[in-house]
Amino acid sequence: MKNPFYVSLKPFLNHGALSRPTQWDTIFANNYPLEVEIGFGNGEYLERLSSQNPYVNFVGFEQYCERIHRTLRKLSRTGRDNVRVLRLDARAGFERYFNPKTITCVHCLYPPPWPKKSDIKHRLFRTEFLKLVNSRMVDGGILKIVTDHYPYIDWVQENVQGTGFTVEFKNIQANYGTKFEKKWVEGGQSEFYELLLTKHTHIPVELKEDSTLQSYLFDHFNPDNFGFNDYSQDGVAVSFKEILYDPKKQVALVHVIACDGPLAQNIRIVIAHSEKGWRVNLAEGTMLMPTMAVSQALECVYQAAKNS
Ligand SMILES: C[S@@+](CC[C@H](N)C(=O)[O-])C[C@H]1O[C@@H](n2cnc3c(N)ncnc32)[C@H](O)[C@@H]1O
Repeated sequence: MKNPFYVSLKPFLNHGALSRPTQWDTIFANNYPLEVEIGFGNGEYLERLSSQNPYVNFVGFEQYCERIHRTLRKLSRTGRDNVRVLRLDARAGFERYFNPKTITCVHCLYPPPWPKKSDIKHRLFRTEFLKLVNSRMVDGGILKIVTDHYPYIDWVQENVQGTGFTVEFKNIQANYGTKFEKKWVEGGQSEFYELLLTKHTHIPVELKEDSTLQSYLFDHFNPDNFGFNDYSQDGVAVSFKEILYDPKKQVALVHVIACDGPLAQNIRIVIAHSEKGWRVNLAEGTMLMPTMAVSQALECVYQAAKNS
């Protein structure tokens, strides 16, 4: 009998180390059709999909570590090799990890409905994201969204205009058995809503590419005068968290958050003394995507250090 606490990490991919766009055929060692689940939560549906469809490959995106851990435990029990999961915002996933026209089906069960009017801006399936999903899907590909929140349907139908999808909608009973569905069933809800969006026209959206990361060299550094200016322009933002300085080693570690739209990365940048002067580099072991915001963060740290 398998150890009940055994968790295989094989399905988990470190998105920082993964090539972009990813050659999924190479990762799965076959060219079966590719499907994606956004926000797989505790993984009930992803486990079922991958078990019931051995000749389909599945990629899942989820943001919460604990949910990914529970999903990995489930996947360990089935031992299937046709599923991979990433801890990443699906928007960054679609922007960078899939070539155009490569995904046959996208599933999303119970996306956060953000029911308050003031929070609607946080909803995932906005027009821009629908166009991005469209661009990565094969012709005729299907995006399935299931929700417990009736107003969400009208909202998606408004957002779908001009995104290359046709929409069908139906009322359904609870039949996915996921954690959130069970919660609402226990709370008395019996009717849910399924939206099927079928791609009829291709909408091209370019892949976001990695940025080149530079290292900087300069003459003088005074950590007491380190004045970092937060940066925000065109969807790229960098904000300062803290600086730690070791005078004996003459090394400073700067913690910043680098955001490219929805993708937020915590990064550490080193300012270290060397024979040639002071050098600004990304700290070793920082697991990240080299985006425009990371490149900008290095530039901001360099400017603050140089002017100190
Ligand atoms: C209400 S839960 C539903 C989880 C699961 N599908 C279920 O039915 O139990 C929504 C899930 O989507 C994830 N999520 C929301 N937005 C996301 C995004 N942009 N990228 C990846 N995951 C996301 C959240 O972390 C959360 O686990």
